[in-house]
Amino acid sequence: MANTILVGAQWGDEGKGKIIDVLTEDADVVVRYAGGNNAGHTVFIGPQKYILHLVPSGILRKRKLCVIGNGVVVDPVSLVEEIKGLRQLGVKVDANLALSETAHVVFPYHRELDAQRETLKGKHKIGTTKRGIGPAYGDKAARVGLRVIDLITPDRFEAKLRRRLKENNEVLKAFGAKPLSFKSVHAAYRAAGDFLKPFVKNTVVLLHEACQRGDRILFEGAQGTFLDLDHGTYPFVTSSNTTAGGACTGSGVPPHRMDRVVGVMKAYTTRVGEGPLPTENAEIADMLHAMGREFGATTGRPRRCGWFDAVAVRHATMVNGIDDLAVTNLDGLDTVATIKVCIGYRVGKARYDYVPADVEVLSQCEAVYAEFEGWREPTSAARKWKDLPVKARAYLKALAELSGANLAIVSVGPGREQTIFV
Ligand code: GDP
Ligand code: IMO
Ligand code: MG
Repeated sequence: MANTILVGAQWGDEGKGKIIDVLTEDADVVVRYAGGNNAGHTVFIGPQKYILHLVPSGILRKRKLCVIGNGVVVDPVSLVEEIKGLRQLGVKVDANLALSETAHVVFPYHRELDAQRETLKGKHKIGTTKRGIGPAYGDKAARVGLRVIDLITPDRFEAKLRRRLKENNEVLKAFGAKPLSFKSVHAAYRAAGDFLKPFVKNTVVLLHEACQRGDRILFEGAQGTFLDLDHGTYPFVTSSNTTAGGACTGSGVPPHRMDRVVGVMKAYTTRVGEGPLPTENAEIADMLHAMGREFGATTGRPRRCGWFDAVAVRHATMVNGIDDLAVTNLDGLDTVATIKVCIGYRVGKARYDYVPADVEVLSQCEAVYAEFEGWREPTSAARKWKDLPVKARAYLKALAELSGANLAIVSVGPGREQTIFV
């Protein structure tokens, strides 16, 4: 496997964690390049369920170097908890994890501001994960953020935290919220800094050396294309570049080292949080929720669900340069008699065959559908392309054709073995 960027082609939660786990078998290094612990990547190994938030999903395979890149924002207290949780489950983290010294740190005032801003927005809220992601990236762009290197340098950390807390406590007071105590934030973050220090590396140099050795690198995207700060449904997005370009800036590995882009998409559509979702459909949501599926891995919120949106995924193919597609959750449609696929949008007399840039326009878009006959038989035991019902194969071929990329992987269940290479 050459160097591969894996991105979500929809609104997040496409099953990236599962596909990363499968592809890691043929990789040497796995890199998270954007987002923070707003992500929740689920991997099943047999009956054991793992939910990764900051640690790359590659950690579950033996002897794979896992890097949290400079583009990630790190809540150190949450990362310590995650590492301890993995250790408890017998996962070998210590020798295999590296944390970028230039990744920005998420503080309690970021989380508090995230929550306060959401409350202030009222019905215009974004529906964030309240993990402080927006305010942390905001500080990074405003050049007032603290980085991992600050966190592990005690004197510098103390001085910088004092200054930042002073300003942020004023802001919190203006919101009518309780100011934070320097002493308790400092103590918790210093403890986390000491714990994390052995993992902290110059990951740009580390990845450069990996490239020189010819190691195969897998870039683990978080969130999805339509949550990208530039290419998503702004302002209903996250605060980082989740798309393929983010893999370069968020890791320090240059574009000419990238060989392949894999786009992960569900055989239908889901979204958690606010913002337009042209194919949203209550019936399919009820069906999936009744099956116990489509509840958020990070917040537990029920995900909004709809039919597959080929207009959106075609857009994702364009902005990410997706070569290969991994279609997950095919089995979610096993009982559906007539499956719809969105092939265009309509607002009054206007037709769109692309995603309008203006979220106000996209919110008014009605989906134009093509219909496919359902296969109405279980697919979760399929292991080869030929095992799939003919109608399921026709559906998958149509999804790939409409999306403009090559169908490479089909997933028919959460397990590693429930994966078909096409
Ligand atoms: P991620 O954020 O993209 O890694 O996705 P999440 O882990 O948040 O959500 C995807 C959910 O779908 C998880 O519960 C996975 O275990 C599950 N999943 C992934 N692929 C399949 C599949 O093909 N079939 C089924 N039934 N579940 C799947
Ligand atoms: P993974 O990596 C799905 C959504 C939130 C909200 C918006 C902004 O598991 O696919 P934020 O907390 O980032 O400021 O929230 O983005 N969101 C996700 N939705 N999957 C994710 O990650 C998400 N990370 C953020 O629900 O709508
Ligand atoms: Mg998720």
